[in-house]
Amino acid sequence: MYRIIRFLLFLFPAEQSHSIVMFIIKSTRYIPFLPCLLRKLLSVKNKSLEREVFGITFQNPIGFAAGFDKNAEIFDLLGNFGFSFVEIGTVTPKSQPGNPKPRNFRLKKDNAIINRMGFNNDGLSAIIKRLREKRNRTVIVGGNIGKNTVIANTDAVSDYLKTFKGLYDYVDYFTVNVSCPNVDNLTQLQNKTDLEILLKSLVNERKYMDVYKPVLVKISPDLSFEQIDDTLYIIRETGIDGVVATNTTTSREGLKTTAKEIEEIGHGGLSGQPLTKRSLEIVRYICEQTSGKLPVIAVGGIMTVADAINMFEAGASLIQLYTGYIYRGPGFVKKIQKALTSQGM
Ligand SMILES: Cc1cc2nc3c(=O)[nH]c(=O)nc-3n(C[C@H](O)[C@H](O)[C@H](O)COP(=O)(O)O)c2cc1C
Repeated sequence: MYRIIRFLLFLFPAEQSHSIVMFIIKSTRYIPFLPCLLRKLLSVKNKSLEREVFGITFQNPIGFAAGFDKNAEIFDLLGNFGFSFVEIGTVTPKSQPGNPKPRNFRLKKDNAIINRMGFNNDGLSAIIKRLREKRNRTVIVGGNIGKNTVIANTDAVSDYLKTFKGLYDYVDYFTVNVSCPNVDNLTQLQNKTDLEILLKSLVNERKYMDVYKPVLVKISPDLSFEQIDDTLYIIRETGIDGVVATNTTTSREGLKTTAKEIEEIGHGGLSGQPLTKRSLEIVRYICEQTSGKLPVIAVGGIMTVADAINMFEAGASLIQLYTGYIYRGPGFVKKIQKALTSQGM
């Protein structure tokens, strides 16, 4: 069934398909009994799927990764599709249009996507308004935070602090995005000095809040193991609660899509199948280095049930889907849930 839907959706450019899907999901809000029916059809409800991670109870370990519901428009509805958590954003203090279109491309031969969206979002105040309207929700919400593109890295801390403070009362945990390859020089914030200053500032700000909210860092798959070691050291020193591994890659290695097509698409972050191996390797490395004590949300190239299981076996506490969900469709979450329950994971 999804093959037909996907065939039709793939007739449109990727960003247009995304808008169509957003529209369809939004419409489910207005059809009586449909949310309930979807929930029944598309998910498994089983106590064994429940996970307690960084002090939060997740009904199951599968979430939607950042970048799909950038503006907090449908996160509550994604619960009906089986997701227990959704990461909204990346949110920046001010609204911004992102990079010129086209900026989102499918690589069908590789089951992959290249995007250079560039943090297009409605900005903090519009997003807070939506989160406030949807306080009554069944999903855990992560706030993925970033900086406006016009803000230089030297002033990044104040931008991250603005989104952090602004979203604090409305999300359940935070993900600090310093790994998006589509915003000029953003990934440089992953260097030891800048990352330490940024994370210290956020954690320090949290001390003044009444309620403790976990703060995670989202890392790039393009970091070397040495750089990951540095990041883990900073995470330990600053008291960060976990890692989201990984964002998209700038690598174009081993693709079936021709070099000419890749060149025509241009720069951007690659996600999906070509990322599977590297993300798994990084998740496994982090879990080993931290003896499983640091919660890891695994994301990147989870395209099959086996990919999901591999992430958990490598030590991930939770997983997030994006490209895999686009290619596999709404039945994918339930398939993973079924496999987890049948394997007692
Ligand atoms: C179109 C698109 C937009 C994205 N936007 C964001 C974003 O705004 N912030 C972020 O942290 N990650 C963003 N991502 C990265 C995903 O959250 C995820 O880390 C990455 O795609 C790897 O997972 P996947 O292979 O399952 O897609 C985006 C990915 C795609 C495909």
